[in-house]
Amino acid sequence: MAPQPTERYRCQTCGHELGRWLGKCPSCGEWGTLQRITTPASKPKAQTRNLTTARDLTPSEPTAIWQTLHSQSTSTQPTTRRLPLGEPGIEEVLGGGLVPGALVLMGGTPGVGKSTLWLQCATRQTQTHFFYVAGEESIDQLQIRMQRLGTFPPTLHITELREVHTLLESLNNYLKTITGPAILIVDSLQTVWDESLEAPPGSIIQLRTCSALFQQFAKTHHIPIILIGHVTKAGTVAGPMEIAHLVDVVLLFEGDLRHPYRILRSLKNRFGPTGTIALYEMTRHGLRLLAAEDLLPAREHFPPGVAHSIVQEGNRMLLVEVQALVTRSYYATPQRSLIGYDPRRLPVLLAILEKHGRLFFGQRDVFVQITGGMRITDASLDMAILVALATSYMDLALPGKWAFTGEAGLTGELLPPSSIEARIRYLQRWGYHLVTGATPATHPDQTLTTLKNIRHLLAWLQKQGTAHSPPPLEKREDTSKQNSRQQHQQTHGA
Ligand code: TYD
Ligand code: MG
Repeated sequence: MAPQPTERYRCQTCGHELGRWLGKCPSCGEWGTLQRITTPASKPKAQTRNLTTARDLTPSEPTAIWQTLHSQSTSTQPTTRRLPLGEPGIEEVLGGGLVPGALVLMGGTPGVGKSTLWLQCATRQTQTHFFYVAGEESIDQLQIRMQRLGTFPPTLHITELREVHTLLESLNNYLKTITGPAILIVDSLQTVWDESLEAPPGSIIQLRTCSALFQQFAKTHHIPIILIGHVTKAGTVAGPMEIAHLVDVVLLFEGDLRHPYRILRSLKNRFGPTGTIALYEMTRHGLRLLAAEDLLPAREHFPPGVAHSIVQEGNRMLLVEVQALVTRSYYATPQRSLIGYDPRRLPVLLAILEKHGRLFFGQRDVFVQITGGMRITDASLDMAILVALATSYMDLALPGKWAFTGEAGLTGELLPPSSIEARIRYLQRWGYHLVTGATPATHPDQTLTTLKNIRHLLAWLQKQGTAHSPPPLEKREDTSKQNSRQQHQQTHGA
């Protein structure tokens, strides 16, 4: 007897499947999204065609199914050679170019420059064909953008098609007409859809289904596919990151939109190192690759509240500037803000300064930021934040080029960072001295100052620093009161 088809229900938002209908999807909690799908009771033959039963087995089949890997020397084959992009920054982050057949997810907040970066790659070399799915902008808008980038490469092919099957079919036909390597850029993943699903573009089921189709296409045609996706500042929003496990590479493009600096990071890379970063600046004519020192304002003297640090982001050493402003608070609850570093560290660092350094912030507003809108993840930035807070609090200016790098413990101890030698070598090129937590063995380097704990750090700052004018807030307020009293006396008589 022929097997009876079974009834199942699938959520149109998250793809969860159930054996009965419910008003609310138990997986994603959406109401009214379960729709009936009919599946045959047994799997059709087509779905199991790659599996071989013992009975079917003939001596020639195993080698067709089970393959041995090639030695490294075969990596010169066109299908495994990495594609250059003409943009050294992104090439380095990818581990030396794009691997054919790789599925790459690039996330970033809207406006950070994701489209610009890939379109710019298309302008940089003429060997590779770039197929660009313009899901967010019209062709006219892209025309204006390319004018800003200054060139219209003949190898850039743009489409407004967004239904995934139609898109891949047309690309499949187009690829037959061109010679040379090709890259598909889907800008953005949230705007493409599979018409066989009822869910709207951008829903999780659409993202998953389309990504799976792109993955299949990339692997069978050996072309890299870039899926661009918008994520929120936290980078964790349900959406593009939902498919991170499906893709080979996850890139994150980040930066504060009020500043021109951008960091490109790789969070996952099946074909290269992770954690590699590239620094860019958004200019009027596209993105400019930066060297680490381009980020730093040149200073010989450090006003109160300013401290430099040498941090390690991925493979790269970065000199960064921390700025802090500590002022008297006029609010019942003093203001606190830390931009560019884990904001949960601010109350901890303030508590450490209060408990172990006797600096009291209870009546003071505290604002801290990293110059240039950078976001730093290296925990050894703690020490520069402590110095910026302390010098702003004490109104101390520091002479000399010091880079403060070390993690602060809750006991008030200062811990040295990893790779001290590499940091010292890097700093010496720019004439900086490293100040860090105490190392277990005393370090012989003359350009290194080690300070055991917060108390030593504050004593050292007071010794090195000079009191800055204008005088501390309280005194200035007193003088202004005196001035107004004098004025009052002059106007109204003694
Ligand atoms: P875009 O690449 O569209 O960002 P995303 O794709 O991540 O949403 O970049 C948008 C911003 O970049 C927009 O504010 C305009 C600016 N921009 C420049 O400053 N210079 C340029 O050359 C280009 C092309 C864009
Ligand atoms: Mg865009």
